[in-house]
Amino acid sequence: MSIYLDNAATSFPKPEAVYTAVNYTLQKYGSSPGRGGHKMSMQTDRIIFDVRERIASFFNIPSSSNVIFTFNVTMGINLALKGILKAGDHVITSSMEHNSVMRPLKRLEKEGVAKTVVKCSKEGFLNPNDIEKEIKSNTKLIVITHASNVVGTIMPIQDVGEIARKKGIVFLLDAAQSAGLLPIDVQKDNIDILACTGHKSLFGPQGTGFLYIKDGLDVEPLIEGGTGSNSESDEMPDFLPDKFQGGTLNTPGIAGLGAGIEFIQKEGLQKIRNKELHFAAEIMSEFKKIKGVKLYGSPNPAERVSVVSFNIGEKDPAEVGNILNEKYDIMSRVGLHCAPNAHRTIGTFPVGTVRVSVGYFNTEEDIERLIKAVRDITS
Ligand code: ALA
Repeated sequence: MSIYLDNAATSFPKPEAVYTAVNYTLQKYGSSPGRGGHKMSMQTDRIIFDVRERIASFFNIPSSSNVIFTFNVTMGINLALKGILKAGDHVITSSMEHNSVMRPLKRLEKEGVAKTVVKCSKEGFLNPNDIEKEIKSNTKLIVITHASNVVGTIMPIQDVGEIARKKGIVFLLDAAQSAGLLPIDVQKDNIDILACTGHKSLFGPQGTGFLYIKDGLDVEPLIEGGTGSNSESDEMPDFLPDKFQGGTLNTPGIAGLGAGIEFIQKEGLQKIRNKELHFAAEIMSEFKKIKGVKLYGSPNPAERVSVVSFNIGEKDPAEVGNILNEKYDIMSRVGLHCAPNAHRTIGTFPVGTVRVSVGYFNTEEDIERLIKAVRDITS
């Protein structure tokens, strides 16, 4: 059987309840949410509302109307960056960011937004003081990832949130690799905007995600369209979540996302984290003993999410990934992982690394087979 170790790209498999929720919603709740006064539409609306409430309680979001459904985290980050930053503003980010942050920022730079990229250490660590030093009078926003998708490094988000709060700067957190795995409390962590994907550690289907936007922030919508509310107007409603949600939502996907979060709540976030951490630690400790294997990122597994990036001697990571796939039936992700700056930071640009990312449904046997495969490839 194939061994899936690409959970940082998308989690697989999903809890059984997620498949059931998607299928059930598609079959029983075929109506468009919030678009008709009839019973079926109202039932569909209820599903969306319940998931929004679940998300709010999971991340300690004060009001569920501030949860905006998106189709992925990239869309949420685009909405936040393009909806807030204007020519003349300054934005600070880190050198470990994914292209979902770097590409919209590049576009904004062309439109007159100034950008500072704070360099992280070779292990991928961000020093919050380096962020503070770069703050200028026109700094409007700080955006960082919670955990690197390349080496898993967990960033000091509470410290960055505290700095942003003190200086009155908007703090946007990209939680693509952490939501569902690390505790996130938007109030305690001073997060003004939280961008999450649904299909990674929250166990939802692809095509789901959401953005939390704190009350009182001036944010322009990314897309305009029908909302089922204020239909007489050519303009988007000015209330949340409708202001940012043009077009029909992905109701079956959202129902699946709700089931994914419910699974985490029942299972326990810490239990999931501990299991994944145990596997990542085992991989790291065994890889360290194999001559020719070079590991990247923090040597302490507790300082990272369950992502392990490595290379074997001078071998091209693409070749290693191919052997793992073809000969050992092990799924990894190789190359730059859509995060070229992160690879520049850790010194692996332009070839990248081989990345294995474990998930809650991996087994001890999966991990043993991976270790054996890497031993074979190096011998
Ligand atoms: N950003 C995702 C990954 O790291 C897709 O694979």
